[in-house]
Amino acid sequence: MSKVQKEKAFFSFFTFERKYFQRKLKVRISEQRTKRKSEKPNFFCFLLAYSYLCKRIVLYIIRYMKKIQIINGPNLNLLGKREPGIYGSSSFDEYLPKLQAKYPDVEIDYYQSNIEGELINKMQEVGFAYDGIVLNAGAYTHTSVALQDCIRSLNCPVIEVHISNVHQREEFRHKSLISCACRGVICGFGLDSYRLAIEAILSE
Ligand code: DQA
Repeated sequence: MSKVQKEKAFFSFFTFERKYFQRKLKVRISEQRTKRKSEKPNFFCFLLAYSYLCKRIVLYIIRYMKKIQIINGPNLNLLGKREPGIYGSSSFDEYLPKLQAKYPDVEIDYYQSNIEGELINKMQEVGFAYDGIVLNAGAYTHTSVALQDCIRSLNCPVIEVHISNVHQREEFRHKSLISCACRGVICGFGLDSYRLAIEAILSE
């Protein structure tokens, strides 16, 4: 073999080797691409499954979350302004968020009306779906046979609540026409009476 032939053979060996490795590299790159492509659907599947699971958990929590309805009767919309020496200086709107924050896993709804029939309508609306009603019927406590009948018709427990200790006050407040139909009575602890009533419902 001449020197020129040897050089040619030497260089053609290197070009073959270079081409061989280039081809191998291309194959490996295309393999990696297809691998990545096949990984993408896995990631989306995981994301889908994860969001589905989250949705189910949220629905489960909503369905099994306890629901309590607070109902305030006549003149209790004036809390904070009305006889603060007896009822305190805080409005119910100020108190409610604090109460709700204490029970983050309980749905606490609030309703107030000065009208007897509206209180009854609200109790009938929630009384078959909620876990309990906290009722401060205000002055209707001492007068309303209709409220007593309504409480008797419901499925859920009703706790009678009073901010003041009615038994330390005028005699006409000592008589309640609704106590006999309620699960229990809490009075005299200021606004904390509502929290104690919620505790009573939750411990059932
Ligand atoms: C009250 C007591 C009732 O006698 C009175 O009529 C009210 C408030 C209470 O929360 O202490 O309105 O229910």
